[in-house]
Amino acid sequence: MATQQAPPTVSIIGRDTVRVDGPRKVTGVAQFTSDFHFPGMLYAVPVGATIANGRITKLDTATAEQMPGVHAILHRGNIGQIFRSIPGPGFSGICEERRPPFEDDVVRYYGQYIALAVAETFETAKAAADAVRATYAAEKPNVELHLVADDEPDEVMTTFGPRKRLDNQRGDPDAAFANAPVTLDHTYVTPFETHNPLEPHATTAVWEGQTLTLYESSQGVVNLRSVLAQMFGLPIEHVRVITKFVGSGFGSKLWPWTLCPLAAAAARQVGKPVRLVLARKMMFHAVGHRPRTQQRVRLGATREGKLISLHHDYIYTRSVLEAHHEDCGEATPFQYSVPNLRVTFGRAKRNIGGGADMRGPGRVPGLYATESAMNELAHQLNMDPVKLRILNEPKIDESLGIPFSSRHLLECFQLGSEKFGWSNRNPAVGSMQRDGLTLGWGMAGCSWVAARFSAAANVQLRDDGTCRVASATQDIGTGTYTILAQLASARTGVPLEKVEVELGDTSLPEGPLSGGSIATGSVVNAVFAAADEAIGALMTIAVSTPGSPFVHRKPDELGFEDGKVFVKNDNGANGVAFSDLLRRANLRMVTGNGQSAATFGDPKPKFSTQSFGCHFAEVTWQPEIARLRVSRVVTVIDAGEIINTLAGRNQIQGAVVMGIGMALLERTEYDPQNGAPINSSLADYIVAVNADAPAVEVHFLYYPDKEINQVGARGIGEIGLAGIAAAITDAVHHATGVRVRELPVKIEDLLA
Ligand code: MOS
Repeated sequence: MATQQAPPTVSIIGRDTVRVDGPRKVTGVAQFTSDFHFPGMLYAVPVGATIANGRITKLDTATAEQMPGVHAILHRGNIGQIFRSIPGPGFSGICEERRPPFEDDVVRYYGQYIALAVAETFETAKAAADAVRATYAAEKPNVELHLVADDEPDEVMTTFGPRKRLDNQRGDPDAAFANAPVTLDHTYVTPFETHNPLEPHATTAVWEGQTLTLYESSQGVVNLRSVLAQMFGLPIEHVRVITKFVGSGFGSKLWPWTLCPLAAAAARQVGKPVRLVLARKMMFHAVGHRPRTQQRVRLGATREGKLISLHHDYIYTRSVLEAHHEDCGEATPFQYSVPNLRVTFGRAKRNIGGGADMRGPGRVPGLYATESAMNELAHQLNMDPVKLRILNEPKIDESLGIPFSSRHLLECFQLGSEKFGWSNRNPAVGSMQRDGLTLGWGMAGCSWVAARFSAAANVQLRDDGTCRVASATQDIGTGTYTILAQLASARTGVPLEKVEVELGDTSLPEGPLSGGSIATGSVVNAVFAAADEAIGALMTIAVSTPGSPFVHRKPDELGFEDGKVFVKNDNGANGVAFSDLLRRANLRMVTGNGQSAATFGDPKPKFSTQSFGCHFAEVTWQPEIARLRVSRVVTVIDAGEIINTLAGRNQIQGAVVMGIGMALLERTEYDPQNGAPINSSLADYIVAVNADAPAVEVHFLYYPDKEINQVGARGIGEIGLAGIAAAITDAVHHATGVRVRELPVKIEDLLA
């Protein structure tokens, strides 16, 4: 099988492109939420509950209220009405924690907001918040780590709608497993993890009469607007949400949290703009985390390694207040060919803040379990884990009974093996050495969903030769500004430096969430359609403006390329720049609007649309000092066309580094006594950083997937984190002989 190389291209699509917003970020001009200032603006600091289960019996705000500079201490008695919200069509009205803040006196998790201090300075607000005294009737919180599914009906309500707990089934998995010549039955555990974006959650609320503007660090301004409109009983056009720059989110900023209505209610109360920025510690309380999962995987196989049966039964934690679904079984039904399969889930309520999507929600912990099981099966069969996967490669999506739009996983394995040097692997545990270190090599496959959310965009071509492209989507640090600029440039011929991108504002045409790795794939067709409409308007100008060289032509005789209008029969000769035509007509601009419909959630898809990939990981192990390092990673990703190969590699490298954290470092620990997250700081919650990261070699395959959009680009934000923990833990086993099935791998696991 020949490996497809990146196509040589002169287009702005498919090449390394530095961030168009880079200069604004490095010079400090870029406005993050807490960089917006308003005259008279006040600062709000929430008071968090110091119990995780119980009831507030008394709230003493007198001292705080009398502090100089304090404008208000808000609590249940004086916050004013905040309504609940419900989901609407598409991705609107979605919210993990529906309970409006202060709705009752019940405390369900540590850090739940019970009051809010509003003052002239941040320092005063903090001092006032600290001076609020709460008395509780506390009960013992449930933060138990062992998970037993709650007694719930076969169908349960989740944030994303009703879900059957029998998630997927085909054939007769129980009989097939009972009769399989080779079987495996293991349980894999992933811990609570907390998103730690550099920029904490921040919100600033500004009321002008009955109109609310919220500056917010959000991954989805359009959805946030719909939630806020409901919570404050406002027509949608009376709410505007602005998010110009986001210091990352990893999913924690995908759906609104209660700090947003708190800031808005406070601003309503005091009649001034109010800013609320969370402290790092609060980032561990009420703005989401990845639920803990406990996943039992059973595999049945022939002695030759053909899968006969697969059971994936998983349980995850949820908070008392939300119903986030951690979809661990999402990839299980189609990742491999297997005739008999069952996927089920259960949930276990805990006294912790709301769970949420965290980079690669569901599938990342899910693939850790199933890919680990595949590696263990390979070991049991004395078979190469790559060979085992090749042997079980499906021809179609066996769950839906439809073909994949584009699946090149075998080519990923081949390229990854070659680049890593996998054929040199001696499978015997502890058998490989380099420079006095024991080496461990492991691998795993991965996948991630590909789809479109609905998207709209506007394109302007202007008389100074510039172009403006606008959509109410967000750049959460992944490069969306640059992607929109590239798309508009490619379609209009306006050079990148003359393209202005406007996003992160609900007054723009409705754009997609920055979530699910779906934003890029969603905007392509909308931007192209908008550009085409603007170009169409230009053609009409070209044939109708007195003095235009095309005045005797019909619009369909004209072509447009590289920013110039020309007569098609002239083969591009005698082209006239669009700026000339506009100036001649005394027009500042022509504009076009473009739309593209959602494919996400299509009940009757023709193709199964997924991205695929694999990781090959090397660890070094020094048993004398119990030192384990990830020393080398090769990752191959099949995600269709890659619009910006530089930003694309960055995404995969960043995800792999996060995966090192997932495998070896990250976990949030809750105190069994009071339910507080104990390690709630960046000093104590350990994420992988540069010093933990080896060279991460990233390769893409470049098969455009035209089912997704005209460019053929699928998403890449999350897939790099899928599978990597299974590759690393298998490498750990190869080096040490210790099979760790509960993440993260701890040194004490390896000392046994
Ligand atoms: Mo991502 S977890 O879909 O923001």
